[in-house]
Amino acid sequence: MFITFEGIDASGKSTQIKLFENYLIQHNFKVIVVREPGGTKLSEEIRNILLSKENFNMVKECEIFLFSASRAQLVREVIIPKLQEGYIVLSDRFHDSTTAYQGTGRDISLDDVFVIHRIAIDNCIPDLTYFLDIPFEESIRRKKQNNISPDRIESMGKEFFERVREGYLQIQKREPERFKVINGVDEPEEIHKKIVEIFNNKLNSQKEMI
Ligand code: TMP
Repeated sequence: MFITFEGIDASGKSTQIKLFENYLIQHNFKVIVVREPGGTKLSEEIRNILLSKENFNMVKECEIFLFSASRAQLVREVIIPKLQEGYIVLSDRFHDSTTAYQGTGRDISLDDVFVIHRIAIDNCIPDLTYFLDIPFEESIRRKKQNNISPDRIESMGKEFFERVREGYLQIQKREPERFKVINGVDEPEEIHKKIVEIFNNKLNSQKEMI
């Protein structure tokens, strides 16, 4: 199974991925965690270019191709081979980030975004996606509390992040079976329980299909 985690910054993705990875290991699944942009040597180099504040003048067309180039490499070098070996692959962000940030956020037409996805990921679409939904103000509060300095994209303002959140919610309307919205403001243990419950439901429905 290929499972992705989405959300605006400081939505708690890393905490939840760690908890879920531990759960899967305890239940004898083979599991690997990757992150986007990144996850291969080449993709990590692209990540540095994408997030560096020195590249403040990067145009949105360059940005979407770089995110997608990083993803194309990760899919073919790591994700597909690991899925074929029977691993559960957990990814911290994937193509929905591009749809929400570059599509709805930066206003690149979704038709164009979908064409780029088709080239970058081909048929490697997640089986399940968790969107940890928090308000922009909560994201700012958590980042201040943890003294996190924003990268190039995180430095964008409230309006941008509201469009990004709207973009995510639109994905849920298009693909409710795959894309699960979870209230990211709940306690981490509560969120973890929901993630496990949704996963087990998915697993059972896949077993029934076999
Ligand atoms: P991270 O902070 O979750 O590691 O993600 C890096 C930043 O890149 C984050 O602000 C979201 C942004 N991003 C996009 O704009 N488009 C994408 O396709 C991806 C994967 C991330």
